[in-house]
Amino acid sequence: MKKMFIIVAVLFISFLISCGGGEKKADSNSTVSSGEPVTNTDNPSYDPIRGEGKFTDVAIAATLDQAMAIEGEKVYTVKCSSCHKLTDEKLVGPGFTGVTGRHTPEWVMNFATNPDPMINKDPKVQALLELCLVRMPNQNLTDDDARHVYEFLRKNDGVK
Ligand code: HEC
Repeated sequence: MKKMFIIVAVLFISFLISCGGGEKKADSNSTVSSGEPVTNTDNPSYDPIRGEGKFTDVAIAATLDQAMAIEGEKVYTVKCSSCHKLTDEKLVGPGFTGVTGRHTPEWVMNFATNPDPMINKDPKVQALLELCLVRMPNQNLTDDDARHVYEFLRKNDGVK
């Protein structure tokens, strides 16, 4: 009878230990994930296709709007060229070649006007930050500036 009691006690204790162990594992998992770069899974409200900002649905024609692209080049020269080349070569930030294929128009315009929250939340920007080691500062673009510079980036990517 005494032996039986010991066996039950041992089983009970090992059951307790295994539960405790399970909890500990869950704890250490959550510590690990909060130390990793924030991904979309951790931010269910963040939309990595659109980014975060005021632009939700930008109408883009199949052909280039030349007048907008000319205005956009001026914005680029004054506010972007110190950090972004028009080639695929990195300066302070990534080169602009192919940028309109890497992101939606909404994403580019939201990032250009509202970089801070996107740097904190967007997995693509976090990967760039690891390469560039500089957070892109807000360039205080107007909505039109953002639209025009986007058109210039399309021109740079070969849209006619
Ligand atoms: C002071 C330097 C600096 C200036 C000025 C700057 N950027 Fe950036 N930009 C960066 C850096 C650095 C990154 C990479 C993300 C990060 O680390 O914040 C970046 C990333 C980007 C990206 C994403 C690029 C990709 O390949 O996915 C876009 C789009 C962008 N910038 C647009 C602009 C536009 C438009 C302007 C001008 C209105 C501008 N940036 C001005 C530094 C700058």
